[in-house]
Amino acid sequence: MKATAKAHTNIALIKYWGKRNESLILPTNSSLSLTLDGFHTTTMVEFREDLPVDHFTINDEVVSGESYSRVREFLDLIRQTAGKTDLYADVHSINNVPTAAGFASSASGFAALAAAATKAIGLPLSDQELSRITRQGSGSATRSIYGGFAEWQMGEHLDGSDSYAVPVAAQDHWDIRVAAVVLSDAVKNVSSREGMKRTVETSPFYDGWLRSAAGDLEQIKEGIMTRDFEKTGQIAEANCLKMHATTLGASPPFTYWTDRTVDVMQTVQAMRAKGIPAFFTIDAGPNVKVLYLPENEKTVEKTLRDIPGAEDVILSKSGQGVSFL
Ligand code: ADP
Ligand code: DP6
Repeated sequence: MKATAKAHTNIALIKYWGKRNESLILPTNSSLSLTLDGFHTTTMVEFREDLPVDHFTINDEVVSGESYSRVREFLDLIRQTAGKTDLYADVHSINNVPTAAGFASSASGFAALAAAATKAIGLPLSDQELSRITRQGSGSATRSIYGGFAEWQMGEHLDGSDSYAVPVAAQDHWDIRVAAVVLSDAVKNVSSREGMKRTVETSPFYDGWLRSAAGDLEQIKEGIMTRDFEKTGQIAEANCLKMHATTLGASPPFTYWTDRTVDVMQTVQAMRAKGIPAFFTIDAGPNVKVLYLPENEKTVEKTLRDIPGAEDVILSKSGQGVSFL
């Protein structure tokens, strides 16, 4: 009863930001992302009859506290679904991505865990079913089941049965690249989970976010299907700014940006003014991801590396969906 799975992170071009049901992880808006080949998690799960509790390591370090509870509760869901509630698991995960620093370790982490755990316990699932169950580990992980571009459809049902991700365009549909500018790999002060909760509950700007998210999604899908980089990039950048604007209205207010974040944003806009098409997007953390086309890779990489405070620049192509090792 053992399986190992690999999943890549994804970068949201239309953000998931807010839940309508926290325990089932049901979002207030549909979202869309590109899976990235530069960052991934590999997770081995073994269900055993001789274990009294679940064991969980990330990068060979024993995990406890809230991160452990999240994994244990997720394994409970898988045990219940499989009708095997008397088994505990040994889980070893390797994050080839900084943990909890805004690089979407929760997306690759829970997608790999869901795939490995359901296989190990003998629960055969379609990609759609896997995406749906993955949702209850971490929302953004629903989209990492697929390669290329994926949309997490928010659904309408109270039980979440119609809330899962679907493929929008395969990995080889469009060679669009993403440079991740590493400014800090420190664990962030406000997790995505806490940040979106506070925003939904207290930010007067949240209604504005909700009013525009569905329109942004429809527009960007047109941009992706027609491989219109200008349109796709403009919408992604604007959608990111709207999401981050909501945090400034929260109580207490917060931002994921640092002065370095703003430096990178301005550098990207200056590149554009010089005729190099590049657009930024930022998840819940200070680090910036820059969208560009392959023919501009050298210029974009050099420009980003030259920014003071840029510790590293990691280049990604469109990545693949979950796989078993
Ligand atoms: P990030 O930007 O890295 O996604 P989040 O705060 O959204 O930051 O999520 C980080 C959390 O995701 C961690 O605290 C942990 O609970 C969970 N996580 C990260 N990596 C893994 C993994 N490999 N397996 C299971 N859970 C993970
Ligand atoms: C800003 O998926 O980490 O990256 O569902 O509570 O685990 P939980 O949140 P999480 O939130 C991701 C937020 C985001 C936007 C996105 O990836 O769509």
